Amino acid sequence: MKYRYKLSLLKKIFKDKKKESKKFSYPLLTDGYSSSDLQEASKILLSERITMSKMTKKFEKFFANKIGARYALMVNSGSSANLLATFCLLNPYKKNRLKKGDECLVPALCWSTSLWPIVQAGLKPIFVDVNINTFTIDFETIKKSVTKKTKAVMLLNVLGNCSEMEKIKNFLRKKKIFLIEDTCEALGSKYKNKYLGTFGDFGTYSFYYSHQITSGEGGMIVCKSKKDYEILKSLRAHGWDRELNKKNSKGFNFVNEGFNLRPLDLTAAIGLNQFKRLNFLKKIRSKNRNKIIKSLISSKKWSNQYLFFEPQKYLEPSWFGFPLMLNNKNKKNKIKLLNYLNKKKIETRPIISGNFANQPAIKKYNIKFKKNELKNSQEIEDRGFFIGLPTKILDKVEINKITNLLLNVNNL
Ligand SMILES: Cc1ncc(COP(=O)(O)O)c(C=O)c1O
Repeated sequence: MKYRYKLSLLKKIFKDKKKESKKFSYPLLTDGYSSSDLQEASKILLSERITMSKMTKKFEKFFANKIGARYALMVNSGSSANLLATFCLLNPYKKNRLKKGDECLVPALCWSTSLWPIVQAGLKPIFVDVNINTFTIDFETIKKSVTKKTKAVMLLNVLGNCSEMEKIKNFLRKKKIFLIEDTCEALGSKYKNKYLGTFGDFGTYSFYYSHQITSGEGGMIVCKSKKDYEILKSLRAHGWDRELNKKNSKGFNFVNEGFNLRPLDLTAAIGLNQFKRLNFLKKIRSKNRNKIIKSLISSKKWSNQYLFFEPQKYLEPSWFGFPLMLNNKNKKNKIKLLNYLNKKKIETRPIISGNFANQPAIKKYNIKFKKNELKNSQEIEDRGFFIGLPTKILDKVEINKITNLLLNVNNL
């Protein structure tokens, strides 16, 4: 009875929230959680089995099946998934493991925790430039950048987009170079009908705020071999063998180095519930994206102020946000434009975090790079930004408002 009462109270709070002010605002994320997400989470809370119980396993199994991965392991964030993948490459249980100082290519247009696990694990990161249209490292650049010292590639599938995955995978496999696919921004995108994240030796996903699905915090890592799966499992929790189903495990048997990167059943419940709606969310985001583009380019005020992000050939995208690149003429107005949009309640943010080689931590950690080899990443930082793509269909009034505000860039 008490349980039912709490659930009905929750439904009411959710309804009231929906009735809140209708004033225009266009944040990066709207309607992050449905009432059924909150109900699933409440069931876990009320059961008091909040961490790493049946729900986490259920989500992992469902996720692996749907994505077409052999193994999936849930963690507390996409960053943790990257950390585990990278540490796994050097683990003493891994065959042909890497050694400290081996080189790993990483795009300069990257996220902080795509890069730092490489450094933390003792590998040497080598910044590589990205393609100006797709924001990812393309096949030709990988081919050119690989040397005898390259032992791994951290490839980012940016904002739902990707590179020529098949060519890259085959090329790296021949060279015995490990591939980690940071798919934290591309859950649900398919290249040649295969889900992104399943091309590499490891694929990592994030369920953080405003990503394709969100459980608040949360992440998943997928891999192809049982050995890697077991290494990841022990690294995830203290280095013990408790989750490895070993018959003679004493429970407190520490067989590996370890972290504690375990997720909550609470976030697994929200994650699984949202994951079941992924195709629906994907369709709506795609419709909204098409609507905004159509409205911009058919406006009388349109004079090619923006370039749009190009989906890779053979990609079935699962968009994350709506990136825009200012044309050369308007590039100098970027800061003014962002201030203007934010004042008018359109929330904006950089594309990933721009050219990461510019960040103060790079100097502090003495990471070397050649500035003139990262021109596209710099262009994307100078000209690009992104706005949200909501999971409800935008109406005409909202589309007109967004179009007009964006096209005011000429009048600032
Ligand atoms: C490309 C990329 N990798 C990794 C992460 C880290 O994910 P999380 O925030 O879940 O730690 C992010 C976060 O937004 C990201 O964009």
